[in-house]
Amino acid sequence: MTEPTPQTAPADGPLLVHTADDLRRVLADAGRVALVPTMGALHEGHRSLMRLARAHADTVVVSVFVNPLQFGPHEDFGRYPRTLGTDARVCAQEGVDVVFAPSVDTMYPSEQMVTVQAGPMGERLEGASRPGFFTGVLTVVSKLLHLVGPDVAVFGRKDAQQLAVVRRMVTDLNLPVEIVGAPTLRDPDGLATSSRNVYLDEGERASALALSRALNAGRAAAGHGPDAVRAAARAVLAEAAEAAPPVEPDYLALVDPATFADVPAGYAGEAVLAVAARVGATRLIDNVSVRLPHR
Ligand code: PAF
Repeated sequence: MTEPTPQTAPADGPLLVHTADDLRRVLADAGRVALVPTMGALHEGHRSLMRLARAHADTVVVSVFVNPLQFGPHEDFGRYPRTLGTDARVCAQEGVDVVFAPSVDTMYPSEQMVTVQAGPMGERLEGASRPGFFTGVLTVVSKLLHLVGPDVAVFGRKDAQQLAVVRRMVTDLNLPVEIVGAPTLRDPDGLATSSRNVYLDEGERASALALSRALNAGRAAAGHGPDAVRAAARAVLAEAAEAAPPVEPDYLALVDPATFADVPAGYAGEAVLAVAARVGATRLIDNVSVRLPHR
């Protein structure tokens, strides 16, 4: 797999480093370090992660790396937006100290034979739809954690299952880092911010609003129990499947936030209502927290 040549970054702004040696050098006296791992194409959601990172640390490092290991053979690795110049400017505006933008060869100098597996909680939902995705994510995140050595790493709650498997990796492998989950940022119309939103044309974007509508409808039914939550969300998605352009659901699930196992009918407590759907050629995911009361 080859990576398109990255754009050059502006001379001002955060320190832009590309190699592990340079990273080690610039972080020698960094104090408390927070890492925000990203694949670039930075948007308002990433800005909110950077601000949260700043509240936890003296030095904020943003990594920008489109990780080939987490893309399937028919996914959008080749066309994923690569905007390092703009990303560096966004990081400068947010007062980020270091942008770590390694090449594929720096991250994977030889065939990656040892990988990190997410186990059973990585086999469902995103893991079922995108085989190998969580292996790619956990492998690159553990590499980034080793290279940067942060005290804190910040991940968005929009990728709720990713956040859960990263937390589990940190616990199960005794990694010395605190994982902080950042709230999902939404555009005024309710669409969760995502680097992939740039793929949507006007009509697709209008149809895509069904995802957040479905999640809100599900959450509004929480008082009636898990089955009612799922049914209310499904009803919105069924209507959206008839829209033009249609929303083609991949999954809708109400799960335990720590294990990502489906919650049973009588469940009370915190849950995550998660959805994935395709609109045109774009696959979108979203989720909300749902508090299910005792009944
Ligand atoms: O969420 C992302 O952008 C990516 O999955 C991550 C965590 C940066 C790993 O490549």
